[in-house]
Amino acid sequence: MLTLNNIEVIYDGVILVLKGVSLNVREAGITTLLGANGAGKTTTLKAISGLLRSERGEITKGVIELAGSRIDRLPPHVMVRRGVVQVFEGRRVFEHLTAEENLIAGGHVQSDRARLREGIQRVYEYFPRLGDRRYVQSGYLSGGEQQMLVIGRALMSSLKEILLDVL
Ligand SMILES: Nc1ncnc2c1ncn2[C@@H]1O[C@H](COP(=O)(O)OP(=O)(O)O)[C@@H](O)[C@H]1O
Ligand SMILES: [Mg+2]
Repeated sequence: MLTLNNIEVIYDGVILVLKGVSLNVREAGITTLLGANGAGKTTTLKAISGLLRSERGEITKGVIELAGSRIDRLPPHVMVRRGVVQVFEGRRVFEHLTAEENLIAGGHVQSDRARLREGIQRVYEYFPRLGDRRYVQSGYLSGGEQQMLVIGRALMSSLKEILLDVL
C-alpha cells in the first residue's frame, strides 16, 4: 500500500540524514521501524507525511508511493486528505483546548457535521477514558490520556495510514 524506494533526505541543503531507505507497508498491517536514537526514524515519517519541508528538509532522491501513485513532494495538508497523518512524539495536544475540541480540530477535513460527530463517537469507543474527560482542558490530562488524544485526533481525518512516532 505504501512504498518507499531508495529515499534520500537532506536537511538545510547539506546534512545528509537518510540514504537508500526502502520499505514496504502492507494494507491492514502494522509495520514497525526500529533504530537507535538519531538513526532517522522521525525523518522517515516526515518524508512520508510531507512535514519535512517545514524543517528545511528535502527528499533529494527516491520515490514514495501510496496505493500506486506518487506522493513524495506533496504538502502535508494534501497528504492528510489522502489519508496519511503523522502523530508526533511527545504528546503534542493543543493544551488550551478541551479534549473534544482537539478532536474537532483533527476533523477539520470533515465538512459534514453529522460525520464529524460520528468520528468523535468512534474515538470515544476506542478510548472510553477520553469520553469521560471530553470537557477537560487537554493540558490537564494525564500523559496516557494525552497519548490517547493525539492518536484519536489523527483518527478524526478518516485516514488510511497512521504514522505513529514513538521515539
Ligand atoms: N531539522 C533538522 N535539521 C538538521 N538535522 C536534523 C533535523 N532533524 C533531525 N536531524 C538529524 O537527523 C538525524 C536523524 O534524526 P531523527 O530522524 O530525529 O532520528 P530518530 O527519530 O531515529 O531518533 C539526527 O542526526 C538528527 O540530528
Ligand atoms: Mg524520533
